[in-house]
Amino acid sequence: MPSLRHLLKTILPEAAHPDIVGAYEGIGDIALVTLPDRLLPYRAQIGKTLLASNARLRVAARRRQALGGEFRLGGVEIIAGEPPLSTIHKENGLRFAVDVEKVYFSARLADERLRLARLSEDGERVLVAGSGVAPLPLTLAAHGKAAEVTGIEKNPDAHALALANLRHNRRHSHKVTLYNADCLTLTAAESGPDFGLFNRLIIAMPEIAFAALPHLIDLLEPGGFLHLYVFQDETRPQPAQELAKALAAAGRGIATGGSIAAIRCGHCGRGRFRYCLDVRLG
Ligand SMILES: C[S@@+](CC[C@H](N)C(=O)[O-])C[C@H]1O[C@@H](n2cnc3c(N)ncnc32)[C@H](O)[C@@H]1O
Repeated sequence: MPSLRHLLKTILPEAAHPDIVGAYEGIGDIALVTLPDRLLPYRAQIGKTLLASNARLRVAARRRQALGGEFRLGGVEIIAGEPPLSTIHKENGLRFAVDVEKVYFSARLADERLRLARLSEDGERVLVAGSGVAPLPLTLAAHGKAAEVTGIEKNPDAHALALANLRHNRRHSHKVTLYNADCLTLTAAESGPDFGLFNRLIIAMPEIAFAALPHLIDLLEPGGFLHLYVFQDETRPQPAQELAKALAAAGRGIATGGSIAAIRCGHCGRGRFRYCLDVRLG
């Protein structure tokens, strides 16, 4: 089967060739592409070619703009095929209901989710802040050793799909508890004595990682593990150093002999990368 890039070259005028995108993100039966402005006049042809290139695809859509805003949405436009923009995505033996218009979801993070699951230790209590449609809580429950995983998500649409995803993955859902709440203003009911301390804290909100840290860090027990997702670009050139300072300001230290490991786990636009900062606290 010729590559998508090759197929597009055969249907688009030569002037458009330098802008051709060869990659798309497959979420269930939806293909998501980001098109440069110069390719927009050809979007219907590109959509049709995409659908023709893979029989499992039902609809092709383009991201209107870079992901942003509180819920990390960018808006999508269908360029071929028919609505709905909701689908079931299968990953690591799990099934996730996703609506690409209403919630954040990245199929490209499947390996990163497995990486975290494999780090978890016997009987752990894990907190995931910014849990979306629950891919991380369910991956931890299915592929890790945690006894309990709690997820907090502010977007009500994502929370509703996350609850559906517990039903889609009943074998593992008994370990997972989900809250529709704002991590920056956790109420006593959510963070009170019943919430307790966690052995592992995953803050999966790169846009607001350093704003969220002071609100959440006290929920991590001494000796616990922190995984903080951040963006690195010219506005934040040294996130590991920034984390060391933020931990010191919160009165928390790094475990004796330990250090912050920066794991690169995504490219999010020109000169912008996603890192997971892993550290064990003292
Ligand atoms: C980068 S997405 C990660 C979602 C999920 N962990 C995943 O991998 O698909 C960040 C998530 O944090 C949520 N979020 C943003 N601000 C929040 C807040 N203050 N409290 C709770 N969730 C928040 C967003 O709605 C979004 O679903």
